[in-house]
Amino acid sequence: MPIAETETKGAAGVALAERKDVLTVIDRRTGKSYEIPVAEGTIRAIDLRQIKTGPDDFGLMSYDPAFLNTAACKSRITFIDGDKGILRYRGYPIEQLAEKSNYLEVAYLLLYGELPTRAQYEEWTHHITFHTMLHESLKKFMDGFNHDAHPMGMLIATVAAMSTFYPDARNIHDPVSRQKQTWRLIAKMPTLAGFAYRHSLGMSYVYPDNDLTYTENFLNMLFRIPSKSWRPDPVLVRALDVLFILHADHEQNCGTHAMRGIGSSHTDPYSAVAGAAAALYGPLHGGANEEVLKMLQEIGSISQVPAFIKEVKEGKGEKRLMGFGHRVYKNYDPRAKIIKRIADEVFQVTGRNPLLDIALELERIALQDDYFVKRKLYPNVDFYSGLIYQAIGIPTAAFTVLFAIPRTSGWIAQWGEMLGDTEQKIARPRQVYLGMGERDFVPIEKR
Ligand SMILES: CC(C)(COP(=O)(O)OP(=O)(O)OC[C@H]1O[C@@H](n2cnc3c(N)ncnc32)[C@H](O)[C@@H]1OP(=O)(O)O)[C@@H](O)C(=O)NCCC(=O)NCCS
Repeated sequence: MPIAETETKGAAGVALAERKDVLTVIDRRTGKSYEIPVAEGTIRAIDLRQIKTGPDDFGLMSYDPAFLNTAACKSRITFIDGDKGILRYRGYPIEQLAEKSNYLEVAYLLLYGELPTRAQYEEWTHHITFHTMLHESLKKFMDGFNHDAHPMGMLIATVAAMSTFYPDARNIHDPVSRQKQTWRLIAKMPTLAGFAYRHSLGMSYVYPDNDLTYTENFLNMLFRIPSKSWRPDPVLVRALDVLFILHADHEQNCGTHAMRGIGSSHTDPYSAVAGAAAALYGPLHGGANEEVLKMLQEIGSISQVPAFIKEVKEGKGEKRLMGFGHRVYKNYDPRAKIIKRIADEVFQVTGRNPLLDIALELERIALQDDYFVKRKLYPNVDFYSGLIYQAIGIPTAAFTVLFAIPRTSGWIAQWGEMLGDTEQKIARPRQVYLGMGERDFVPIEKR
């Protein structure tokens, strides 16, 4: 039945047909007209279901592979305007957070909605600091991996294994338990990452040091040689902390969507984070910074840049300029601008990464080239971040791990928001079935 104007009224008792915030749909198959409410720039897909050709018709659905134009949730965490190149966490511009804040403060902001007071910040930092240790048995999982296991594979597997160490994590509706898992996850991800890295080198694990900051401690767990006292360079610590801020959340991307989708079945947060991290691992998502480095190495020198750009253009999507393009940003990714600036500070300490010149030349040519201009392809967050990680001494295979660590706070914030949203249910998209109609089974000897 179409919603007739006399039947359905809005909250103010105004008939739908008289309201301005309504979409009128005429179904030419039946000649019927429907009034569909519009709220916050959206119609509800379920409102399309009433549009039927007859009583046996299931009703109209929207078809949106890869969610190009479908909002799956309402969120108050991160705002992106891709055309203008704007990114804000809880309303704060990313540029201000990158300049004035630090990762743990930003994680608090994402999770709880406001910047912490000094007392809240100290308490929060204390809890994170005192949850960095891993259960000793977890080390045995790490030891079981081959020396050449990919660090992301190790991280995904061990964070999933953590759910078996903390069975209380299954009490997802208990705020006290949820709080504890939040501390544990944010605190232990760097330790898992550090152990995975040391394992791949065959070096002894470095345990967390509570006298260090979050980012210092992470670098310490990566690089400290047990026989020597070592303190990371403060410029590198700050650069990495800013990179953590920039990667902390990015609204409904593939990994976050996985976190919400998996979490919607009410599984524990460790399993959901493992799934989100698995999504992040792919080369079209968090794996892109690794691919950027491989690409820059393959290009080899500035003189080869035009030939590479030509290959990308002629490849018609087969070969891509990694670190360029974004589903949402159709302008310069604001994070890439900040990263480009901190790259200069890092290179003053570490020496210039020779691949930077190739990257700058690629960017210069691409930003003038009609192919990239027409498709609005600009450098994204991954274009320069790999160069910084490499300068700091982090191996290419570990780059995505450095994305997963800070993104954990965003994942948990989004997961918590999803659990508290009374409109959410277990995620379950529809399909358009194009396969065979019913047919009888044929025994093997008759096929
Ligand atoms: C990020 C990304 C997956 C977004 O993809 P998307 O929104 O689905 O965009 P599409 O794949 O539809 O691309 C649109 C057009 O731009 C082209 N394009 C997109 N990214 C491109 C790139 N990096 N290099 C060359 N061409 C690219 C596509 O071939 C397509 O061209 P067409 O219209 O002639 O077919 C894509 O830009 C990409 O693969 N980038 C490289 C990987 C990367 O850096 N990922 C990190 C994201 S933070």
